[in-house]
Amino acid sequence: MQTRVLTGITTTGTPHLGNYVGAIRPAIAASRRPEVDAFFFMADYHALIKSDDPARIERSRLEIAATWLAAGLDPNRVTFYRQSDIPEIPELTWFLTCVTAKGLLNRAHAYKASVDKNTEAGEDQDAGVTAGLYMYPVLMAADILAFNAQQVPVGRDQIQHIEMARDIAQRFNHIYGHEFFVLPEVVIEEQVATLPGLDGRKMSKSYDNTIPLFAGGAKQLRETIMRIVTDSRMPGEAKDPDSSSLFTIFHAFASETESHAFRRALEEGIGWGEAKQVLYERLEADIAPMRERYEELIARPADIEDILREGARKARAIASPKIAELRAAIGLRAMSSANLPAGGTRQATKAARPPRFASFRDTDGSFRFRLFSSEGDELLLSKSFKDPKEAGAVQKRLKVLGGAAATVHSLPRSLVLELDGEPVATAPDYTDEIERDEALSYLRAALDLLAVQEKSE
Ligand code: TRP
Repeated sequence: MQTRVLTGITTTGTPHLGNYVGAIRPAIAASRRPEVDAFFFMADYHALIKSDDPARIERSRLEIAATWLAAGLDPNRVTFYRQSDIPEIPELTWFLTCVTAKGLLNRAHAYKASVDKNTEAGEDQDAGVTAGLYMYPVLMAADILAFNAQQVPVGRDQIQHIEMARDIAQRFNHIYGHEFFVLPEVVIEEQVATLPGLDGRKMSKSYDNTIPLFAGGAKQLRETIMRIVTDSRMPGEAKDPDSSSLFTIFHAFASETESHAFRRALEEGIGWGEAKQVLYERLEADIAPMRERYEELIARPADIEDILREGARKARAIASPKIAELRAAIGLRAMSSANLPAGGTRQATKAARPPRFASFRDTDGSFRFRLFSSEGDELLLSKSFKDPKEAGAVQKRLKVLGGAAATVHSLPRSLVLELDGEPVATAPDYTDEIERDEALSYLRAALDLLAVQEKSE
């Protein structure tokens, strides 16, 4: 069973070393693990909250896409897209907004920081605060929940946002009486979560203390490293590696053996200038080959566009049935399928045309069944059972399972559903992996619908 891991990167500034070490590199490493189903996207709707400069947003989207690809992201393996290419995200944002307590958003760190700043300056507490900034956590929750992401790797400053996404998901699940959303878990790379910047504070564009990853080439990298603030110890004087930004940055790139040697050199009194040169050379060894790919990619924006559109297609194949399911659950179905008697959601759910099972006797005398979607498409064919009661018992369990809880293995062109570690049904042959992934989303949505139905009976 794969774990769905999702992360977004806001497309304002230009990627720096801190972004690379804290987010991009660990995310790409994780995406290569076979048990990980990775989703990476450019949070360009979030970028609008921070910047109203179109040229900057546009430039940043291109740079960030090229950076992730140059750093080794394989778009065939992961789902890589732009937030603004997924209309289901703003739609879900509104659904979530309507169950989110305003008080929850009042407590968001970013919003509170603005309020505190205004209060200190004697201004109106909401001066200069847009509703976009206020809603930031809800949009982020939609990013995550639209795909039922299980794990979200982020920087420490984002932990509260993931907690809010959980709160909001729980509230929606509770109100509408079904586990529509998986509760996401935050993942922090303990070792190298944050790098110090030039002034020793956390490397961040808001402190203007960053070391660029690719921008300006090797020359810029070296010059910036030479500007890292150190203490005033002279060459020959012992330096404390543990309070030195140089060492922390070095350690984030180097092996334990290399780090050990650098530590010794500092303790033995290497001059700061020389130490910076050592740091530069070590970083350049990792960065140079990536920078070369980056330059190639940046020169071909149309190719990047194609990659992102394909990513959006894969992402929407999952978000779109999810939204359809939610629309049905909250009372926004097509009127033609809604044949409502008076009353609330219980009747509404009953009136929906549910996915259905069809049992049959196979030519060898065994008992099997198929599961069809509401639209009548075949989703599953069961294995053969000797005893019809066994086949019935499996159907019964599938009716209450729910999409998120189903264990489904993806084969190149098919799907296998398991119960208790045993395969019990397979999906038809699909023409490609994209169709298969689409079918998987429909299968999960159908299992969700069955479970809702079952509950209301
Ligand atoms: N807010 C995140 C940041 O600034 C970016 C982001 C947007 C994100 N949506 C997300 C991260 C969803 C993880 C999941 O770093």
